[in-house]
Amino acid sequence: AAATRPNVKLRFLADLSHCLFDFVIQLLPTAEEMSVKEDVRKLLERLIRTIEPDSRLLSFGSTANGFSLRNSDMDLCCLIDSGERLSASDLVTMLGDLLERETKFHVKPLPHARIPIVKLSLDPSPGLPLGIACDIGFENRLALENTRLLMCYAMIDPTRVRTLVLFLKVWSKRRKINSPYKGTLSSYGYVLLVIFFLVHVKNPPVLPNLQQMPPLRPISKEDTHLGANNIWFFDDIEVLRQRWHSENTESVAELLIDFFRYYSRDFLYNTGVASIRAGLLKKESKGWQNDLSPGRVNDARERNRLCIEDPFETEFNVSRCVTKDGLYTIRGEFMRASRILQVRPDRAIVAIAELCA
Ligand code: GTP
Ligand code: MG
Repeated sequence: AAATRPNVKLRFLADLSHCLFDFVIQLLPTAEEMSVKEDVRKLLERLIRTIEPDSRLLSFGSTANGFSLRNSDMDLCCLIDSGERLSASDLVTMLGDLLERETKFHVKPLPHARIPIVKLSLDPSPGLPLGIACDIGFENRLALENTRLLMCYAMIDPTRVRTLVLFLKVWSKRRKINSPYKGTLSSYGYVLLVIFFLVHVKNPPVLPNLQQMPPLRPISKEDTHLGANNIWFFDDIEVLRQRWHSENTESVAELLIDFFRYYSRDFLYNTGVASIRAGLLKKESKGWQNDLSPGRVNDARERNRLCIEDPFETEFNVSRCVTKDGLYTIRGEFMRASRILQVRPDRAIVAIAELCA
């Protein structure tokens, strides 16, 4: 029996990779959903142009980066090209009024939020059996750039990267650990954890570090910076394919098992910062350590339990909303997943069902 064990393990891994792939494929948005969403974007753009004629409405987040699941929300960003323009909060108020008058959307303007947005939702219809949820923000150029960065990472190794990310998104939603408002982590945070793992933890790496690759030709500071933030990364994927390829041949299943093991056991939650730009950093070096000076204790501690550096807004902790309880729950889920995959139920499909139960 001992001699057959390695075979059992190999068979399980091959089977699991296959099942993970099939599992996420069925959860991708349909062509119809994509086209209804594009129609909605165009309609909203036309309406916004009645207020700001020089504006464009662009898609970001999962609808634009290749990590979209069926019924994902739509993240839209309005860019205004003319110099003179209204403030974001005035725009939110005006647009909110306009959409309320002219469309069937339920409209909720949030003009005083940290990032002012209009929240929209549409009731279910035959083309969209689950309705639509959509946020419109203004001038959020960094979000457009980080969307493009994630899209480039997905394009380098579509099968492994997209399967892992999409599976983890479904898993985190089903296990209810994907709600920043309730103290757990956003989808964006999970995607960054996956990329950090593939660039900096895996050896040999599955992905290169796009932000540290030398540019093909010298570029001026104006072209690499948006305000104070360096937004440069190597985005010529065709050239990259000729110049770089991963020595890592692990399957999706092996990577997933190792991902869960790493984040349940090895990641240094108390002192470490996951940075896809610079690798594992120390909370101390960013001033994100638990501040023990009087009066600040709870504040810094609560905000920096889990630290994930934004790729471009490096002073920004993407997981600042994760609370002590939230992190405890997330780590518990990583451990649970690890355990399920270690036991190796005889069929991979059973393991997937149990993971997402
Ligand atoms: P689903 O909506 O769950 O399908 O995932 P998503 O990929 O759209 O992610 P999410 O809704 O969490 O975020 C959408 C986009 O907003 C991301 O791709 C980022 O561009 C941006 N974003 C979200 N959270 C943050 C954040 O904390 N910091 C920054 N800079 N951008 C963020
Ligand atoms: Mg989204």
